[in-house]
Amino acid sequence: MPVTATTKSAQPPGLVAHPGGALRGTVAAPGDKSMSHRALILGALATGETSIAGLLESDDVNATAAAMQAFGASIERVGKGRLRVVGAGGFREPDAVIDCGNAGTGARLIMGAAAGFAISATFTGDASLRGRPMRRVLAPLELMGARWMGRVGGRLPITLRGGGLRAITYPLPEPSAQVKSAVLLAGLQASGETCVIEAQSTRDHTERMLRAFGVGVDVADGSAGRVIRVMGGQQLTGAAVSVAGDPSSAAFLLVAALITPGSEVTVRNVMLNPLRTGLFDTLIDMGADLTIANQRQSGGETVGDITARSSALTGVVVPPERAVSMIDEYPILAVAAAFARGPTIMRGLSELRVKESDRIALMAAGLTACGVGLEEEPEGLIVVGTAGANHLVCGGGAVTTHGDHRIAMSFLTLGFAAREPVRVDEPGMIATSFPGFVALMNGLGARITAH
Ligand code: S3P
Repeated sequence: MPVTATTKSAQPPGLVAHPGGALRGTVAAPGDKSMSHRALILGALATGETSIAGLLESDDVNATAAAMQAFGASIERVGKGRLRVVGAGGFREPDAVIDCGNAGTGARLIMGAAAGFAISATFTGDASLRGRPMRRVLAPLELMGARWMGRVGGRLPITLRGGGLRAITYPLPEPSAQVKSAVLLAGLQASGETCVIEAQSTRDHTERMLRAFGVGVDVADGSAGRVIRVMGGQQLTGAAVSVAGDPSSAAFLLVAALITPGSEVTVRNVMLNPLRTGLFDTLIDMGADLTIANQRQSGGETVGDITARSSALTGVVVPPERAVSMIDEYPILAVAAAFARGPTIMRGLSELRVKESDRIALMAAGLTACGVGLEEEPEGLIVVGTAGANHLVCGGGAVTTHGDHRIAMSFLTLGFAAREPVRVDEPGMIATSFPGFVALMNGLGARITAH
C-alpha cells in the first residue's frame, strides 16, 4: 500500500478536558517524531532497502513520507508503524510543490538534503510553517552554493536550486538541531569536509542515524563547543531502523499523572537520549516521583519505561543551559509549574517564540485564562504555582492554540487537574505529533470530549 500525503485525522472542532479522578495504566510512547522524519529522509537518500519499525504515523511524518516519494523513493507501508523504503540513491526533481504541512523539521531537513542535488524544488507548508524563519537554513545552504528564491524575509514558499556544493565550516548562530542536520545532509553531497560547530549540543539523532546508514561522522568536543564533521561523497546504504518512543509525547502523559491526585501512569519505551531528557531532570528537581525501569538499547538509543505517580511539586529555577534538551517541553512544564508550590522560573527561551506558534505568548495567555499567576519576559516565563497556597488551579479557560499541537495537549492536561473544565480550539493539529492522544488519555481515566 503506498503512503499517501496528508491524511488529516478526523477531529471535532474543539475539545474540552473535564476535571476527574485518578489516571492509571500502562501505555507505549508513540514513535519519536525527530527520528521518524530522519529515518524516512535517510532511507530515501540511501541505495537499497530501509525497513523502519515504530514509525510515528502522524500528519507531520506523513508529509515527509509523501515528500520522499516525490523526490523518487518508493515507500510501502507493511504494517502499523512499519515501512519499507527503497531509496533511489539520491533525489530526482519533483514534479509538484513539496508541502511539508506543519513540520519545521521536515521542511528544514528536506531542504538540506535536496540542496545536494542539481534539481529545483519548491517548498511550502501550512499557515504556521509559512510564518516560520527559514533563513537560518537557507543562509548556510547558500554559503555552500545552493540558490533560492522566495518571499522577503526567507519564508515559505521557497524554490531551492541545489547541486555543485562546496563544504563549509559553520558555527550555528542559534542552537538548532534542524539547522545542524540540514547542513550535514547537504554536506553529504559537497566537495570536501563539512563541519558544524555548536556552542550548545542539540539532539544528535542525525549523527547517530547517519552512522547506522554507513556514513562516517566525526564528533568531538572542543573549546567552542561540539564539532561535527562529515566528508562529502559518502553513499548511504539502506538500514533497519527501530524508532524509539518520543519523550516529548510521553511528557504529557507523565505530567498528567504527576498533577492529578491518586494517579500512577507508566509509559513504556521512552527514548532517554540525554539531549532530550531535560524535562525529566527538571521534574525530578521539582520533587516529582518519576522512576525509570528496564533501561535497554533500541535502535541506537537508550530507552526505558517511566512511571509517574502524583506528587507535591515545588517551583524551581530551570537552568537556561538546559533549554536545548527540553525545548519542546516548556509548555507542559509550565502546566506542571502551575500546580507546584511557589514560582518556577524559565529563561533562555528565545527559540520558543519561533516554534509552531509563539509558545511563550500562548502559554502566558492560556494560563492567565485559567487563573494562573505569571510574568512573561521577552525570553522567558515565570509561573507562580498555586499548590503552596492550598488552592487548586482554577481552569475554566477557553484556550487559543493557534494550531499548535503542544499548546493544545498542554491545556487539555491542565484541565484534568483543574477545578473547572478547560476548552481548546483547533484540536485537529494534535495529529501532527500525537494522533492517539485523546483516546489514550481517556483510556487512562481522563475525560476529554468534543464541544
Ligand atoms: C527538532 C529540533 C527542534 C525541535 C523540533 C524537532 C529536530 O527544533 O523543537 O520539534 O527534530 O531536529 P530546532 O532545531 O528549531 O531547535
